[in-house]
Amino acid sequence: MNKERNIYVPEGGPPQGIIPNSQIFALMGEKAIFQMLEDFYLELGNSKIRHLFPGDLVEASKRSGAFFVYILGGPPLYQQQFGPPMMRKRHLAFSIDEEARLEWLRCFKMILKDADKKYQFPMEHMDGFCNYLDEFSKWMVNKK
Ligand code: HEM
Repeated sequence: MNKERNIYVPEGGPPQGIIPNSQIFALMGEKAIFQMLEDFYLELGNSKIRHLFPGDLVEASKRSGAFFVYILGGPPLYQQQFGPPMMRKRHLAFSIDEEARLEWLRCFKMILKDADKKYQFPMEHMDGFCNYLDEFSKWMVNKK
């Protein structure tokens, strides 16, 4: 029990079997993935959930960049630098409700427009990637 606030735990536990196709990393490479996450964080900077994020969004985007390199099929850069991901646990430091989740997703979808041209994203894997973002983000929600 958390004494300071009620922690909401989504039903069903961590989502399984949703990891995006590893061809995404093979085709995009590390640099384009970091660029994609930088653009995403700058988009978050103009969003309703700006207050949740640190002042230096470009710097913060590098941690997420390292995580997404691995998730999209590349080397475990995040684990090498920061240890076990334990993403839900790391997100408990922030109050995330369904509204915040939808805003987070909206920002991601925004920068994914023309992702083939901007980041060489293989569009045949876009649905799978969006499904991952949709499902995994539900597991980050910790406030009703
Ligand atoms: C549900 C909506 C979400 C919100 C509102 C949210 C918010 C945040 C916030 C406030 C931080 C700390 C600032 C930072 O270092 O960037 C953070 C960190 C992070 N988030 Fe999220 N997040 C969400 C979902 C997700 C999802 C679905 C993923 C992965 C698929 C993810 C991956 C990360 C990573 C890798 C970090 C960096 C952790 C670290 O500091 O080492 N987030 N997020």
